[in-house]
Amino acid sequence: MFVSENLDINNAGHLTIGGVDTVELAKEYGTPLYVMDEQMIRKTLRRFHDSMKKYYNGKGEVHYASKAFSCMEMCRVVASEGDGLDAVSIGELYTAYKAGFPMDKVGFHGNNKTDEELRFAVEVGVGHIIVDNISELHRLEAIAAEMQAKPDIMFRIKPGIDAHTHDFVKTGQIDSKFGFALETGEAFEAVKEAISCKNVNLSGLHCHIGSQIFDIAPFEEAARVMLGFIAKIKNELGFEVKGLNLGGGFGIKYLNEHDPAPFEVYLERVSGVVREECSKLGIELPAMYIEPGRSIAAPAGITLYTVGARKEIPNIRTYVSVDGGMADSPRYILYGSEYEAIVANKAKEERSEKVTIAGKCCESGDLIGENMPLQHAESGDIIAVCATGAYNYSMSSNYNRLQKPAVVFVNEGKSSVVVKRETLDDIIRNDI
Ligand code: LLP
Repeated sequence: MFVSENLDINNAGHLTIGGVDTVELAKEYGTPLYVMDEQMIRKTLRRFHDSMKKYYNGKGEVHYASKAFSCMEMCRVVASEGDGLDAVSIGELYTAYKAGFPMDKVGFHGNNKTDEELRFAVEVGVGHIIVDNISELHRLEAIAAEMQAKPDIMFRIKPGIDAHTHDFVKTGQIDSKFGFALETGEAFEAVKEAISCKNVNLSGLHCHIGSQIFDIAPFEEAARVMLGFIAKIKNELGFEVKGLNLGGGFGIKYLNEHDPAPFEVYLERVSGVVREECSKLGIELPAMYIEPGRSIAAPAGITLYTVGARKEIPNIRTYVSVDGGMADSPRYILYGSEYEAIVANKAKEERSEKVTIAGKCCESGDLIGENMPLQHAESGDIIAVCATGAYNYSMSSNYNRLQKPAVVFVNEGKSSVVVKRETLDDIIRNDI
């Protein structure tokens, strides 16, 4: 019945996450509330890095994509598991840095990095800067020279793969704002130039074909294309590319009918393709990096809301309104992304109705979802929306001057706040 394995029902008939009663959590911390299960995050990270070891002889690293969910405690958890991080802004870099994250295990992304961001990345010594375009290469070369540094870089390549996912989260095709194009020769010319740069060291190539992808085939295809390019660079320029970063994008189960392939299968198949192609093309096995974000954070999280108004519009629909909405859960209004929901205090009952869960923002499109199977929900009930650990807190806003909810981690039966709920004074903090 549940999309994530960390959800269950206790003797009181309440929904639990990581063994902790969600109704009690709502009482203790208030709603709306993001709840993340730390053990589940750790378990998923281990599944990724253990399979990397098993199927790729340990010649690889898992870099958690912190855009999915970033806060200092999350960075500490990832660091303590020995994994790396993908950061996409100075804000994500700063969060990791302040959390004491080993910055040499950070890849810094972005299609339009500012000079301030590049300087900061060089200053804190990130492991790789993933350069997106030629003007960034020139700017970074100048900044590194000025700082007397020689950062390792990777190039973001568009491998020309069209993954089957929502248009807004596709990134590997030629019509994309991200990266250097292969087809036009742009990527090859840029590699030539980078090799001759004095203040950057080209250490790898990167691609990311999109997000929430269920099929393994496009990932295999991307790996083939990238290795073909690495072979071309070796043959024509005599330069050996040492690292291959294949990005993230692994699909997860948001709805009961979703059936994504286990990550282990992905790693087994893609590692197989990389080994096969390398021996066919006569190139060294590169160090392999992957950047899963959603698959690590989403299944570990839920959002808890309290039901306020209920409106039954005969022959049309029933609205169940909650105390949050698009400000803390923007993915339905943005992408039409669907979730499973449960009335946490009635978790044992049948989900006998189909309702629209509406938020409290002043906007008709402010919905958590439509046609959602749910137990009969009334004012005061607690609704849990499942698998919200990724791209919810990280994409939240203060629309309507709402305060961002707290984030609570549960861990082995205990709970603690890792991000405080915003106060009304936080709302006016920067106002003059
Ligand atoms: N690496 C790069 C370079 C990326 O651009 C992304 C995601 C990832 C890794 C992680 O992908 P994941 O494993 O999380 O799928 N806001 C959208 C998703 C945007 C993803 C952007 N890039 C959503 O809520 O569905």
